Amino acid sequence: MAKTVTGFSKWNKAEKIEWLTQHFFADPSTAKAAFLSWHRPEGEQKVIDGFAENAISNFVLPFSVAPNFLINGKVYAVPMVIEESSVVAAASSAARFWMERGGFHAEVLGTVKLGQVHFRWYGCPERLRALFPQMEPRLRGCCDDLTANMRQRGGGILGIELLDFTAQEPGYYQLRVSFETCNSMGANFINSVLERMGEQLECLLETLPGLSDTERDVEIVMCILSNFTPSCLVRAWVECPVSELEDLAQNAGLPGHAAVDRFCTAVRIAEIDPYRAVTHNKGIFNGIDAVVIATGNDFRAVESCGHAYACRSGHYRSLSRAQVENGMFRFELEVPLAVGTVGGLTALHPMAKQALEMLGNPSASELMTIIAAVGLAQNFAAVRSLVTTGIQDGHMRMHLNNILQHLGATDAESDAARAHFRGQTVSFSGVRAFIEQLRTTSSQSSV
Ligand code: MEV
Repeated sequence: MAKTVTGFSKWNKAEKIEWLTQHFFADPSTAKAAFLSWHRPEGEQKVIDGFAENAISNFVLPFSVAPNFLINGKVYAVPMVIEESSVVAAASSAARFWMERGGFHAEVLGTVKLGQVHFRWYGCPERLRALFPQMEPRLRGCCDDLTANMRQRGGGILGIELLDFTAQEPGYYQLRVSFETCNSMGANFINSVLERMGEQLECLLETLPGLSDTERDVEIVMCILSNFTPSCLVRAWVECPVSELEDLAQNAGLPGHAAVDRFCTAVRIAEIDPYRAVTHNKGIFNGIDAVVIATGNDFRAVESCGHAYACRSGHYRSLSRAQVENGMFRFELEVPLAVGTVGGLTALHPMAKQALEMLGNPSASELMTIIAAVGLAQNFAAVRSLVTTGIQDGHMRMHLNNILQHLGATDAESDAARAHFRGQTVSFSGVRAFIEQLRTTSSQSSV
């Protein structure tokens, strides 16, 4: 049976599900029922279907909450959407830990977004540089209608630079445009402005007086925002006297100051070794992505930018730093976060709206501080576990809970299993055997 298809996107949802289940599933009617069972009522489903093409069902993830986040003196209950067990528990426990030590501090260092018009031009580079000051106001001015609303909100085009890459690629130049997009992530706004600028660049070189035929010839290669926004940056930190970290070791038989020392060494290892740095930063993004997704923002943009930023020295390293100076412990994270709280999915996704309301409908800058604090909390919790109890302890507890739920264990059975598996490796088959044994024993004793 042919598994290729033409015109799939034109079919209605029922036709898509019918074709798909017939061609790719062993039991089409069960598969069809599964796809249909995750649908929302018609009006809501229509909104969700509008987010992506060829949608045939929904993919559900938990919408969790990490309470007790004290950030810049304000308490937040933070929404987190993530499929990995232990992450929310770790964020919550770090939030509680730091709540008693002054909470998280965060500062937005910049909110500049960037876009690029990439073009080819084969005249003399000095000539283009000399023409640019005349062209710049006209490139900016041609976008006045597009930028009017943004300017009213205090944003718009901040600057336009001409960059010469002809040494790397013959004829290749770039307009690098910087933007302030206020509370929106601004991708559509930036891309529309860039495309208009590309057209205007062609028009200017066509009409400016005194140019040779070669100089009139420009080829716009592409116009697109850059997801690398190193100047849309936030710093979050926690700090307290080392003497207040006696319980950092979590009963792992280590004095507090030794646990702090090991913690700082673990962070330095992530500055030295990219193999460790990637895992270390992944832990940070466990927290960051969960809030970015919950608030309807673009986690791929945030991830790719964050990893590029981690490479800014030419060497991939930790995004966080830890130090002890004059008896004070300080742990900080610096990360670029291009996020918005208006427009895009933030306004359309019903759960993103809830998430933003839960956070008190923050500005984009405030959301940056919240996300950075959660990333730092996640990193703190992970490194703290790694250097004290080991990561599997907490993980295994969550894993055990998931297995018990899957097996339909009663409260009494779950308590017995938790006691039995304390400090032991948890496997699905081991837990199933334990529960079956419990059930057999209890049915025998009730006869
Ligand atoms: C697991 O999702 C994240 C950690 O591996 C992060 C880390 O190692 O720092 C625990």
